[in-house]
Amino acid sequence: MEEAVISQEGTEEIYYPPPDVVSQAHIKDYQSLYEESIRDPQAFWEARARELEWYREWDQVLDDSSPPFFKWFTGARTNIVHNALDRHVKTYRKNKLALIWEGETGETRTFSYFALHREVCKFANVLRSMGVKKGDIVTIYMPRIPEMVIAMLACAKIGAPHSVVYGGFSVEALAERIEDAESRVLITADGGYMRGKTVGLKDIADEAMARQPTIESCIVARRTGQEIYMEPGRDYWYHELMSLPITNNSCQTEEMDSEDPVFILYTSGTTGRPKGVVHTHGGYMVHIYATLKYVFDLKDEDRWWCAADPGWITGHSYIVYGPLILGATSFMYEGAPNYPYPNRWWRMVENYGITVLYTAPTAIRGLMRYGDAWVRRHDLSSLRLLGSVGEPINPEAWRWYYSVVGRENCPIMDTWWQTETGGFVITPLPVTPLKPGSATRPFFGIEVDVVNEQGESAPPGEEGYLVIKTPFPGMMRTIYKDPERFKTQYWSKFPGMYQTGDSARKDKDGYIWVIGRMDDVIKGSGYRRGPAEVESALVSHPAVAEAAAIGLPHDLKGNAIHAFVILRQGVEPSDKLAEELRAHVGHEMGPIARPEDIKFVDSLPKTRSGKIMRRVLRARALGQPEGDLTTIEE
Ligand code: PRX
Repeated sequence: MEEAVISQEGTEEIYYPPPDVVSQAHIKDYQSLYEESIRDPQAFWEARARELEWYREWDQVLDDSSPPFFKWFTGARTNIVHNALDRHVKTYRKNKLALIWEGETGETRTFSYFALHREVCKFANVLRSMGVKKGDIVTIYMPRIPEMVIAMLACAKIGAPHSVVYGGFSVEALAERIEDAESRVLITADGGYMRGKTVGLKDIADEAMARQPTIESCIVARRTGQEIYMEPGRDYWYHELMSLPITNNSCQTEEMDSEDPVFILYTSGTTGRPKGVVHTHGGYMVHIYATLKYVFDLKDEDRWWCAADPGWITGHSYIVYGPLILGATSFMYEGAPNYPYPNRWWRMVENYGITVLYTAPTAIRGLMRYGDAWVRRHDLSSLRLLGSVGEPINPEAWRWYYSVVGRENCPIMDTWWQTETGGFVITPLPVTPLKPGSATRPFFGIEVDVVNEQGESAPPGEEGYLVIKTPFPGMMRTIYKDPERFKTQYWSKFPGMYQTGDSARKDKDGYIWVIGRMDDVIKGSGYRRGPAEVESALVSHPAVAEAAAIGLPHDLKGNAIHAFVILRQGVEPSDKLAEELRAHVGHEMGPIARPEDIKFVDSLPKTRSGKIMRRVLRARALGQPEGDLTTIEE
């Protein structure tokens, strides 16, 4: 195999794809197809939609009569699970592996398309027998085990949108998502494994259900076998329900309208409670199908590993739905990347012959620090492409990933997208010349830009707001129960443009360089967290009067959460109290929201209307100029 060419243009590094990657690529010429797709985006998406199965075809590809509420493939009938499972079991794929899973404790479980389809049918029958109907939102709170994938697919199959709450969240985060979704059914597990320890998910679920008594039935998968409380009449074991005679293997897939919601996924914004981002059966399905097919060139013989958690959008789109729609084999691993040793991932790549690995910069940096030897002792020659997502990848991590993991043979697809966009928006293709740290160019049918405060296109090199200018099928439809917030949050700053919340620059070649969040959203370890959630967890502690949370740069995590706390009168600050507050946030929100550091302060910078000026806190912490302070009231 020939090595990729590395050229220097001035100070710029450009990496060209190896010839065999080019020769196998679905798309060989990005530019001409991109231009064509922008002249007629609907034709591009319609052609992709025709590659999938529909119960009834659409009357209209795009209904843009009431922006920003765009609708795709209106009048069509389909179900994402029909395309992910039903259609494959009628072909040779019946015997193909759909899912390979490895537990942190070392065991492997595999599911052919036939087996996964059967388990999904059975569990869908369980849900129906419990009274779950089309339109009911089911909350899923599980560790990274196959039952989670089965649960998600079973919900979609019967037209019940799922709301997956990441297993690293805790009591309050789970309770408020159950409340917003008004879920009556919760699917969880006794516990999960993480770094050799068990996490008691059912205990957390019990506390959340006590706060949110709308849950009538709770289904519990057995994973760790730890002692848990089972409430008679409310809690049921997954394995017991699955062996009941009513759960036979045949289950009719619900015919859905193209625009019916397939799931709701909560994500953090700057203010207030998490937003329930709504995605649909039709448009979302077409978008993730087309992006995964072209960006990672997935083929039948591939073994694809998206090392995210199904509880985040990356997992929804590219562990569960995308690979299955493409009929690929998806690998999923339960636990920590460095457990029991830092070669865990590389051993699995070798053992399972993984061909494409897609992960986050924070994981790459985390594994990089153990040195090359852990990687080099494994034969990773099965890999042909690599991927990155979640935050900008620093060139140092990019180069390590490229040279040590990819042996300078695997182009890195740095994909920029969001929970809101459902799938990739800015991304290379395997044939794209790469510049480390740039997600390169927009995907087909989508126009993006960097604009200044007035909404005018910024010249190359100038930092500005990253916006999207064309509707596309995977774009969120609304915020659940809050269409007004959808409009104001994303579509009000620049008329006719979707505001991503990120800042970016374009370069002279039209490559996009995403810099980071422009708002107060904190992106750390690939997780997205809102300051308001951390602050409200802090204020729920009796010692705290007021709190502010910000993100500050961190070598490994990208950003880490730092909190500033004003104590109630009479409470004395101490290291012990700071530790107690960090633990309290961990208990309420989950370990992923635990602040790195807590500082006790007497006042917080606020605007005259009482809003905390987090940018001022950030500037002070970094020793930078504090900017415009005309609105401050301190
Ligand atoms: O700031 C961008 C960053 O992640 C944000 C979206 O977060 P979330 O909804 O959790 O989705 C993450 C997985 C799709 C974006 O607004 N982000 C995501 N991918 C990249 C990125 N920043 C730079 N480069 C990326 N490739």
